[in-house]
Amino acid sequence: MIKKLGRNDTCWCGSGKKYKSCHENFDEKILSFAMQGHITPDHDQIKTPEQLEGIRESGKINIAVLDYVAEKIHIGMTTQEIDDLVAEKTKELGGIPAPLHYEGFPKSVCTSINSQVCHGIPSDEDILEDGDIINVDVSTIYKGYFSDSSRMFCMGNVSDENRKLVEVAKECVQKGLEAVKPWTFLGDMGNAVHQHALANGYSIVREIGGHGVGIEFHEEPWVSYCSKPGTEMLMVPGMVFTIEPMVNMGKPDIFVDESNDWTVYTDDGKPSAQWEIQIAVTEDGAEILAY
Ligand code: MF3
Ligand code: CO
Repeated sequence: MIKKLGRNDTCWCGSGKKYKSCHENFDEKILSFAMQGHITPDHDQIKTPEQLEGIRESGKINIAVLDYVAEKIHIGMTTQEIDDLVAEKTKELGGIPAPLHYEGFPKSVCTSINSQVCHGIPSDEDILEDGDIINVDVSTIYKGYFSDSSRMFCMGNVSDENRKLVEVAKECVQKGLEAVKPWTFLGDMGNAVHQHALANGYSIVREIGGHGVGIEFHEEPWVSYCSKPGTEMLMVPGMVFTIEPMVNMGKPDIFVDESNDWTVYTDDGKPSAQWEIQIAVTEDGAEILAY
């Protein structure tokens, strides 16, 4: 809910300007959508220019860490070695790996291979093999600001079928990105992602989605990629969230590994692919903060 400010009060956004010459019209526009029954963001979900700058800097580290992984990843490597690379590079750049100890997560990065959908835990036991597809999901805290993005890596001779899954999952993120426009809805974006997966004969995981991110690791809103146009939260400039659909080759159903309570697998054992970008909604579209 948006707090009512006097027109001559200082604006909530930190600009130092009077409310009436800053965000008053903006808030009224949001309120008009709320009055039509739409879900709308509150001020916690709208980042100030200063916060955006902090998140941008955090994102640069996240990108650099993933670039470093991309340089070093190879067949025969263990996922623990990927964890070591992420921990080392993040520290070198002055950041902290956000996954480490987050709700008890034991490692610095998530590594999810083949039928693992997400939240794979790096281990000395898991060795990358020829033909594997793997998601490496990196998240960074820098000066208190959070960034989050992930990429897929194809190890050696990946089957055409699996390579296509990886490519379409990336295209799904692009479709979502193109649908990010202020004063439209997260459901418009989610539907764009979903339709592209469905058109290729794939499905999208329903239970796990994207999220607001920046001041915390996981903030409101929760972001679905199986949503309908005109539904879910209104997108407004300054919102920061992830686009990270989990695209399954087979059915959308998943289960969580009971031995660690983290790692998510496809029910049917077929592969799943995921790319993740972090974006800010701008006046005319989106700015990519991490990829
Ligand atoms: N990086 C994941 C995401 O995209 C979150 C992982 S939570 C963790 O939201 F604890 F497993 F790191
Ligand atoms: Co995320």
